[in-house]
Amino acid sequence: MGGSRLSGTVNVPGAKNSVLKLMAATLLAPGTSTLTNVPEIEDVTIMAELLRRLGCEVTQAEGVVTITVPDRPDHRADYDLVRKMRASICVLGPLIARCGAADVAVPGGDNIGSRGLDMHVDGLRRMGAQVSNEHGYLLAEASQLNGANVFLDFPSVGATETLVMAAVTAQGVSILENVAREPEIIDICHMLNEMGADIGGIGTSTLTISGVAALNPVSHRVVSDRIVAGTWAVAAAMTGGDITINGVNPIHLDVPLDKLKTAGATIERREDSFRVHMSQRPQAVDIVTLPYPGFPTDLQPQFIAMNAISHGAALVTENLFEARFRFVQELARLGADVRTDGHHALIRGRAELSGAPVEATDIRAGAGLVLAGLVAQGETFVYGAEHIDRGYAGFVSVLTDLGAQISRITD
Ligand code: EPU
Repeated sequence: MGGSRLSGTVNVPGAKNSVLKLMAATLLAPGTSTLTNVPEIEDVTIMAELLRRLGCEVTQAEGVVTITVPDRPDHRADYDLVRKMRASICVLGPLIARCGAADVAVPGGDNIGSRGLDMHVDGLRRMGAQVSNEHGYLLAEASQLNGANVFLDFPSVGATETLVMAAVTAQGVSILENVAREPEIIDICHMLNEMGADIGGIGTSTLTISGVAALNPVSHRVVSDRIVAGTWAVAAAMTGGDITINGVNPIHLDVPLDKLKTAGATIERREDSFRVHMSQRPQAVDIVTLPYPGFPTDLQPQFIAMNAISHGAALVTENLFEARFRFVQELARLGADVRTDGHHALIRGRAELSGAPVEATDIRAGAGLVLAGLVAQGETFVYGAEHIDRGYAGFVSVLTDLGAQISRITD
């Protein structure tokens, strides 16, 4: 139901896009590793199941996950789990490093785009792996990986993670250039160094990795979820609200927070929290999605939702996922004026949206549609809410605590 001004305080849990990779990285060391600040989301449950199939013992409770990795993990990630969660591909690097082989189902495309794996494969081949694609599985083999120089065509998050996890125990030095620099990449590199790896250049575009013989288990706190934090920030701006968002470093959201300021919000930053206060209808803001530190694609739908009710018009350019604009057709069902042409979307802000049934096709589209529903006149039904559960812990209860009129109809 639209119309409530959201206010209050929220705490941000660990990042989905970090914890899944950290869980996979524990495969690199036999023994028990512990992760804290773990979000209670569906994708963590799926990754726990995948690790169990590989022979690990995994427990999950109140933000803590413990993983006991056997001396000889299995090396096959089956399609039934990979199809549920594309991020399962992140076991490829650690499995080939630890087992000398990895059979990982190819995830295929999804609702946000085609999502290639060529850079993962090319990089592993440069490190000496034989990689083939047979019967829907990537089959990788290398009795010993060797350090290599790899220049990524594009700073891919997933390829950077695969190659870093493969390189940490490879023989010799790897120099990985044009790598992704997301806070989640920094998090995994720090964790690997805590496990005994030797990764230099963390946070820059070039990583220098000296292979070590073996890694040790670790206890590590997951970096907070900047995308969840950014979603609550947009919720404050769209509803004329006032939300303090705790437990996240605002530097990780420099560009989105600057955009909210341009839209008319007041932003107060502290070391590990920030407040977003809005007392007017937002001004439309142009956006271009780019690898970090550019504007994150995972906040693009939320900002399109804000632009849909803003003063003026905005041009949004999506550079990462070609199908991420699919959700604007759903937004149009709420009365939004959005036209797309290739990877550009032109949004002309309307004073009002009107509630309607809509369908969420991925996590962030779901979040964007709910935000639009919070300001639309009347009732909005968001189908496909299970997508939102994959990435947001307690989404409905957080919004309810902030004063939103929202309820969950089905599990
Ligand atoms: N790409 C290739 N070849 C490759 C690898 C990537 O062509 O070998 C292309 C992809 O097709 C895509 C672009 O490069 O067009 C970016 O892909 P990237 O590898 O950077 O993304 P990812 O690792 O697949 C992660 C997040 C996404 C997030 C992107 C970009 C996880 C589990 N997923 O995906 O998160 O949008 O980085 O920041 O970490 C989400 O949380 O909703 C989500 C989709």
